[in-house]
Amino acid sequence: MPDTNNTQKKIIFSGIQPTGCFTLGNYIGAVRNWGPLQDEYDCIYSIVDMHALTVKRDPVKFRQQTLEAYALILACGIDPQKSVAFIQSHNRYHAELNWILACSTQFGELSRMTQFKDKSAKHPDDVNAGLFTYPVLMAADILAYNTDLVPIGADQKQHLELARNIAQRFNQRYGEFFTVPEPYIPKVGAKVMSLQDPSKKMSKSDENPNACIFILDDKDTIIRKFKRAITDSGSEVRFAEGKDGINNLMTIYSCATGKSNAEIEAEFAGKGYGDFKLAVGEAVADHLAPVRENFARLINDKAYLKECYTSGAEKAMKISGKVVAKVYRKVGFVDAR
Ligand code: TYM
Repeated sequence: MPDTNNTQKKIIFSGIQPTGCFTLGNYIGAVRNWGPLQDEYDCIYSIVDMHALTVKRDPVKFRQQTLEAYALILACGIDPQKSVAFIQSHNRYHAELNWILACSTQFGELSRMTQFKDKSAKHPDDVNAGLFTYPVLMAADILAYNTDLVPIGADQKQHLELARNIAQRFNQRYGEFFTVPEPYIPKVGAKVMSLQDPSKKMSKSDENPNACIFILDDKDTIIRKFKRAITDSGSEVRFAEGKDGINNLMTIYSCATGKSNAEIEAEFAGKGYGDFKLAVGEAVADHLAPVRENFARLINDKAYLKECYTSGAEKAMKISGKVVAKVYRKVGFVDAR
């Protein structure tokens, strides 16, 4: 179990929102990279349900989605014996640290966050304070464990930079304390694009159902969506500037098969986009098949899931409780005991 006080290994923290089945973007950009890090690092992974509350949710569905998201990270290879895997709202220290950090985060810096601008434009009827201060809670998630590395997709880089600024500011004001976290962004697949508009990132909120692969989609659905993927008017499978659709498919194929772009180009030399799209669909479906099988088993074992997330929360609280207690002292709160 990670212990920020006496560990040689570096600490990893990452989180994902329980807002429905993960997309192929979530998987390639983040979650599939989490499992392989477990041996080398002390890993802490969280289902960030408090972040998901920044958008209106049906409580019954939300509770179910949170359990499913927890089962999904296990299905994707997170071993709850090796890593701390928990649900964010089960650890009150995130909210407590959030408040302290919010008091030194500026309105101006939060206003510049592109995700806030995008989301408030999308939900003009509910531009709530939680949506605005979302990155502060994310900083609290990370800093509560004195995290070294944060495995994320490219779209979370700006939030991570803010977390770094918040940590540095705290250290300047109260003396060196927080580790300044580094992003850990994959070289290939940091931004998986929509299958219907390769200039936009793949997102589960896309209105076009063919734009996004969900990792629990069945084989036929996956193949059908790839067959309909938008590509340019050419016919050559080659990674090149201006061929965003093909570049995106090549990236996905490379992540599913481990092949390099040169190998992919050689494999499909003389073949058309149709053959290539079919091959991508099959490779992705085969790659995701074990995740689907694991998930089907795990989601029916509620007792096991509960055991895992309860013990995960206990471990998370133990580590972050020590950090937050030190923060309380540093800012000058009177000791409670
Ligand atoms: P979320 O839930 O939107 O996404 C989870 C992870 O998936 C990555 N991702 C993608 N990567 C590549 N291509 C895409 N199309 C794509 N779409 C999503 C995201 O970059 C992310 O790594 N704020 C975070 C959750 C969070 C968090 C944290 C992450 C809360 N606290 C602390 C790290 C550390 C979010 O909304 O991710």
